[in-house]
Amino acid sequence: MTATKKPDPTIIVIFGASGDLTWRKLVPSLYSLAHDGWLPDRFAVVGFGRNKLSADKFRERMRDGVAKFSRYGRPGKKEWDEFARQLSYQTLDLSQDETYRVISDAIHKHEKSWECQARRVYYLAIPPGLVGTTVDHLSKAGLCRDCERDRVVVEKPFGHDLSSAQELNKLLLNRLAESQVYRIDHYLGKETVQNILAFRFANALFEPIWDRRYIDHVQITVAESVGIGHRARYYERMGALRDMVQNHLMQVLCLIAMEPPVSFNADEIRSRKVDVLHAIRPIPDDDVALYAARGQYAAGWLRGEHVPGYRDEPNVEAESNTETFAALKLFVDNWRWQNVPIYLRTGKRLPARVSEVSIHFRPVPHQAFPHNAIADMQPNCLAIHIQPDEGVLLRFEAKRPGLRMRLSPVDMRFDYGEAFEESPPEAYETLLLDVMEGDSTQFMRADQIEAAWSVIMPVLNAWEQTPPTDFPNYQAGTWGMQAASVLIAQDGRSWRMPTAAQSDADAKENEE
Ligand code: BG6
Repeated sequence: MTATKKPDPTIIVIFGASGDLTWRKLVPSLYSLAHDGWLPDRFAVVGFGRNKLSADKFRERMRDGVAKFSRYGRPGKKEWDEFARQLSYQTLDLSQDETYRVISDAIHKHEKSWECQARRVYYLAIPPGLVGTTVDHLSKAGLCRDCERDRVVVEKPFGHDLSSAQELNKLLLNRLAESQVYRIDHYLGKETVQNILAFRFANALFEPIWDRRYIDHVQITVAESVGIGHRARYYERMGALRDMVQNHLMQVLCLIAMEPPVSFNADEIRSRKVDVLHAIRPIPDDDVALYAARGQYAAGWLRGEHVPGYRDEPNVEAESNTETFAALKLFVDNWRWQNVPIYLRTGKRLPARVSEVSIHFRPVPHQAFPHNAIADMQPNCLAIHIQPDEGVLLRFEAKRPGLRMRLSPVDMRFDYGEAFEESPPEAYETLLLDVMEGDSTQFMRADQIEAAWSVIMPVLNAWEQTPPTDFPNYQAGTWGMQAASVLIAQDGRSWRMPTAAQSDADAKENEE
């Protein structure tokens, strides 16, 4: 989509610019924004990092990142030269006062040549342990004094548990106003996640049945086929619950369960989400096993390739108890959702990469059809496909063609790719543009982050106190994990096979 209105002059200062995030996500996303005409005419990226790189080498690496990861692929020479003129890089040590004088000079140089004050976005693509001192330095150097113009973007992980998140919030809010802090959860930048709001609140059709009277239960699945790659040092300290559930899955849950907002104001939307988190029934400390299950992958086969078990991945402890799969059952204690279970699951090395929310409706209240007509009958189900095959699917019953009355489930589909010509922006494109425009709707407020940590703390504590005895307990390339099946089976339900994975399986069967 091409730009309608461009943001004011902006300088993005990236701390940790020689790292992976800048190469894979930030610069490729900025490039796509530039390509579509969204970047301000006066714009600069000032990169700082520990790695010794010349500005030219930095630009070369960024070009490689753009070619590999941006929506537009390899850039043409003219386009790239134009974009690359705005990129600079310096090797600096973030713990030194002198560093911040250099940053200040770089900013002023741009502002002087543009003859105006710019918006400054400080993007902290650095390890969580450095966030506090960096913000301290920025503040002492007077670089984030202006609440309107100066913004700080903080990447996940935001803390390691509730108390560390509270500490980090305190530290940030000692130096900055809440409105200056943009805590990223990239799931909130995904088109299909944003579409949950449109789907629920721009249609009169679904809202009247979106409650405990019609909905039996909800499932949220975020499955990945990848392992942990080279991220063992990070992942060993995190595990699936911290890495995925506390942030991405919890935010999706909020969008599914929130009350209709009065307006699209950032704080209004975020407050409605916080209401959901506050209403989640606390998981009882002594009954965690009824509400949560964990797993770790063993070696197995994925698409014909043998993959190692988690404990055999590089830099993982031989006896590691880190979970690579987590499932939770939650209840939202309010009028809308009373006693409707919401099941969440996420894991690595599952058979497919697929994220889906499924809303399972109650069966019809009275069964008028004869027995032999309803052998295949299923309650209605609405599946929101977050990725891949972005779209929405509604499963309902229809009469099978024939002389007798026989019912069968059929699907009605909305497919993003088919319905719209535009290719959807990457999550980081949306989020970077939002930061430049000062729209914090899709970012996490301090209380949101803390409320999400509060929900999972009983599970984190219980799992820490009682190490698992059965790890590894699922084979790479399978959905199977006894404990997760039991979690839902004890309520007389079962996990839905996500639609994309189902079509994968069907395609495979047809090939054979
Ligand atoms: C990140 C997690 O936040 O999200 C990763 O740290 C995970 O472990 C990734 O792989 C998944 O994101 P996406 O956009 O590929 O679903």
